[in-house]
Amino acid sequence: MTIRVCLAGATGWAGSALAHGIVKSNDIEVVSAVSRTHAGKTLGDVLAEPALTCQIYATAQEALQAKSCDVFFEFTKPDVAKSNILTALENKTHVVVGTSGLSDEDYQEIKVAAEKNQRGVLAVGNFALTVVLLQKFSEIAAKFIPQWEIIDYASDRKKDSPSGTVRELANRLSKVRPSELTVPLEETQGVKETRGARMTGSQVHALRLPSYTISAEVIFGMPDQRLTIRHDSGTSAQPYVDGSLLAIRKVDSFVGLRRGLDSVLDLS
Ligand SMILES: NC(=O)c1ccc[n+]([C@@H]2O[C@H](COP(=O)([O-])OP(=O)(O)OC[C@H]3O[C@@H](n4cnc5c(N)ncnc54)[C@H](OP(=O)(O)O)[C@@H]3O)[C@@H](O)[C@H]2O)c1
Repeated sequence: MTIRVCLAGATGWAGSALAHGIVKSNDIEVVSAVSRTHAGKTLGDVLAEPALTCQIYATAQEALQAKSCDVFFEFTKPDVAKSNILTALENKTHVVVGTSGLSDEDYQEIKVAAEKNQRGVLAVGNFALTVVLLQKFSEIAAKFIPQWEIIDYASDRKKDSPSGTVRELANRLSKVRPSELTVPLEETQGVKETRGARMTGSQVHALRLPSYTISAEVIFGMPDQRLTIRHDSGTSAQPYVDGSLLAIRKVDSFVGLRRGLDSVLDLS
C-alpha cells in the first residue's frame, strides 16, 4: 500500500529534500503540495524532478480538499503550522510535524484535536539520528545528575528561539525532573537575563550567529566533574530525510500526540 502524502512547504529547504527522498522510496507518494509562491504549478516543474507530478496549492485547506491523503506533512513556518495541523486533523489525516516554534500550549491543543479525530500526530523537533541519540543520552544523564543547562546554537537568520530541537529537549528532560539551581534565579545579582530563560525546568541559552546551522548542547555539572552532550548539523537537509520518511511510515500506528522520533523507535 502506498502512503499518500500532502507535503506543506514542499518547495522549501527541508521540504524539497524530503520530496526528492520520497521519489526514491517505493512506498510513499506526494499527492499534493503547499507553497504560496508556486501555487498552480506542478511540484516536479519547481524541483526539476519529473516524477513529482502533483499540483501545488497556496494553502493547506485547498490542498487537502483537492486530493485525499493519508498523511499531512508540515514543513512550513510557525505562524501557519498550528492552523495547518488542525485543518489536516479535521480532514481526518495523520500529521507529521517538522516545523519548529510551536509551544507546549499549542501541542496541548493539537493533542486534544488528534484524540477527537482519532488520528496520530508525530511532532519531531529534529529528525536527525544524532539528535534522537542526544535526547536519549540526555534523559539518561538527567536521571543521575540533577543540574544541567542547555545551549541552543543557530544561524543569525533563524527567527524562532529556542529551536524546535531544544524546545523538545527541554520538554523531555522536564519529564525526568527539573534541573536544580544552587542560587535561585530571583537571587541573581547583576543582570538576571544572563542566566538564560527557564523553560519547563531547564535553563536555556540561545545563540544566533552566522556560521551555525543547528547545534544543541546539554552540559551536566556535578562537583568536580562535568558531562557535555552535543549535536552539530551540517548545511544540507539530508540528515532530516531518513527520519522524516520513517515518521511518515509510523504515524498511523497510534492515536493522539507523540513527540520525538524515538517515540516510534525501539531504542532500548
Ligand atoms: N524537524 C526537523 O528536523 C527540521 C529540519 C529542518 C527544518 N525544520 C523546520 O521546518 C520549517 C521549514 O524550514 P525550511 O528551512 O525548509 O524553510 P523554508 O526554506 O523557508 O521553506 C518554507 C516552505 O514553507 C512554505 N511556506 C511558508 N510560509 C507559508 C504559508 N504561510 N503558507 C503556505 N506555505 C508557506 C514556503 O513556500 P512559500 O514561501 O512559497 O509559501 C516553503 O515551501 C522551519 O520551522 C524549520 O525550523 C525542522
